[in-house]
Amino acid sequence: MRATIKDVARRANVSTSTVSLVLNNKSVPISQQTRDAVFKAAKELHYRPNQLAVGLVTNKTNTIGLIIPDNSNPFFAALSNQIEKAASSNGYSIILGNTNNSAKSTRNYLRIFTDHAVDGIILAQADFSVPEEGEKCMQLIKDLHIPIVSVDRIDKGSNLNSVVTDQKLAGYLATRHLLNLGHRRIGCATGPLGLSNCQNRLLGYQKALAEFDVPFEPNLNYEENLNIECGIHALSTLLGQNVTAIFAFNDLIAYGVYKELRNYNLSVPDDLSLVGLDDIFLSEILQPPLTTVAQPVNEIAENVVERIIEQIASPGRTAQEPLVLEPILKVRGSTKRLV
Ligand code: RIB
Repeated sequence: MRATIKDVARRANVSTSTVSLVLNNKSVPISQQTRDAVFKAAKELHYRPNQLAVGLVTNKTNTIGLIIPDNSNPFFAALSNQIEKAASSNGYSIILGNTNNSAKSTRNYLRIFTDHAVDGIILAQADFSVPEEGEKCMQLIKDLHIPIVSVDRIDKGSNLNSVVTDQKLAGYLATRHLLNLGHRRIGCATGPLGLSNCQNRLLGYQKALAEFDVPFEPNLNYEENLNIECGIHALSTLLGQNVTAIFAFNDLIAYGVYKELRNYNLSVPDDLSLVGLDDIFLSEILQPPLTTVAQPVNEIAENVVERIIEQIASPGRTAQEPLVLEPILKVRGSTKRLV
């Protein structure tokens, strides 16, 4: 049974308010003998303040809930790490909820974190391939009345406080790089185009093609998921379309292309140029290192934490404009000029 503040008071033979004043190190006239008795009782009882009880009194728990779609994806692992560092340096703890891309799990975590009295929530999954799921998520957010900042997969139509990468620019930079190298048959291996970040990456791809007067050919797009399997499955389809380059909508898809190329005795970049997106940690140590478009994960994390802390401090403040951050093209060894 977990010890309570009453148990500590009884053992130290003092009042519960004395226990609270001593354990919260308040500067009040209490003898050192009494202080020692309280600390001794708390230690013997393995007493830990009940943060929910503390929160009911102070209306703060100094905790932030972080909801992400897939902690097995190094992009979200890096984002979570940076968010935790930024939150910790501001006196907040992070409680992580991983949804495995499930809309229902996202809604569960929104309720769980609210019921467990977090001070605010950072939501990296407010966007879903099925529009109705996004609507249900946004309705729940309205009903919960808790400070929320959306990051990465933000809801297209909402006015939630949000921090995102310019995904259209990311797709544009990846594609323009390949066009500048002379490639004209550029395949796309995309995640679900129902997600706004994938839609915008495709728009960037189409914008770059148009600038080079290259017609957009839908049959050069392979749509699946933002994972390695997508890259594995996409290769045969896109090679069948005689592509000379592939823009993978994230680095994991590009890893799948690398892997499957071995079954065709083809290599990057001699037989196929390849560009990814995210710049997760493995991409620069692959052989050859992956050319990719980096998302500014540290900057995203710092800004999303700054915004949620501001919102916790001033819940009634008007929502800030979405913060859109620029991606960075990282040219490495997986692309070459088409001769
Ligand atoms: O790799 C996971 C992808 O989904 C990233 O590109 C990120 O934007 C997330 O939404």
